[in-house]
Amino acid sequence: MAILVCGGAGYIGSHTVAALLEKNEEVVIIDHLEKGHKEAVLGGKLYIGDLRDTEFLDKVFAENKIEAVIHFAAFSLVGESMEEPFKYYDNNVYGTLRLLEAMNKYHVKKIVFSSTAATYGEPKRVPIKEEEETIPTNPYGETKLAVEKILKWGEVAYGINYIVLRYFNVAGAHKSGKIGEDHSPETHLIPIILQVALGKREKIMIYGEDYPTKDGSCIRDYIHVMDLADAHILAVDKLRKGDRSATYNLGNGEGFSVKGVIEVARKVTGHAIPAEVAGRRPGDPAILIASSEKIITELGWNPKHASLEEIIASAWKWHQGHPDGYGK
Ligand code: UFG
Repeated sequence: MAILVCGGAGYIGSHTVAALLEKNEEVVIIDHLEKGHKEAVLGGKLYIGDLRDTEFLDKVFAENKIEAVIHFAAFSLVGESMEEPFKYYDNNVYGTLRLLEAMNKYHVKKIVFSSTAATYGEPKRVPIKEEEETIPTNPYGETKLAVEKILKWGEVAYGINYIVLRYFNVAGAHKSGKIGEDHSPETHLIPIILQVALGKREKIMIYGEDYPTKDGSCIRDYIHVMDLADAHILAVDKLRKGDRSATYNLGNGEGFSVKGVIEVARKVTGHAIPAEVAGRRPGDPAILIASSEKIITELGWNPKHASLEEIIASAWKWHQGHPDGYGK
């Protein structure tokens, strides 16, 4: 039986597909390629289409024996979601509802869902535990939280078991150097810093230095994309065992300020990486640091690439090999 990966041509999806293939899993992929890249899919059976298209979903579920779903397909930019919230609700919430209906129709009762630290908003306690209050500060986080709630009731009514994984800031690339992060437009801190190091941008803009942090810039918890991919495999195995649904944070438990990340990138790349302070970006919380104790204890998650140097070095390898990403 196959694992269906929705959004498997995207950044995190494609790395998880690679990890599943390395475990000899049978993989079916759905992606509408609006953000994803065909070239990022290293194997498995790719269907190009949209989760909001019920006929398309019917075809995928009818043609394959799906055991479980890993669902990455979503828009995920905090800033963009502030400007176009309806677009986020449509793709992230409406699309997921159609997927869950198809799962129910075809008796697929296991789903691993990509959620986010953005569900917490401005947390009262750091490191953030899963039982922290969820009050998102942006529509992106709000759409992910909405799906978490849908999953809760879907389990009650239809017995669909889920694992929700709330990611903190994902970065890095596969060790082969074949796949990595390529967004258009790029808005994420680490790839932008590396584009400056590559000479593709003049400087990095630091969005705000008046936050209540040590150096005034925002603090985030960075996690290697392959450690994240491993967590999805553990989550699928947990669902296979018939364990109860659960929600887990995924981060390294260490915070780096924007200025701190730039410093580490200067060391890793050997480039000066000019920086300039700009105003705050709307929707950005000041500090997001995970407690990942729960997934470590319950699922035996064991991050192998936790150091920011290693995360940035693997991303740097990808960027140097693919200065234009996957190309046009
Ligand atoms: N930043 C800059 N300059 C830039 C880009 C980013 O200063 O050019 C800052 C941002 O303001 C933020 C930090 O760097 O403080 C990280 O920004 P990213 O855009 O890389 O990531 P976000 O924290 O906004 O969001 C990411 C994912 C979300 C996820 C969130 C969880 O994009 O999907 O992490 O922590 F919800």
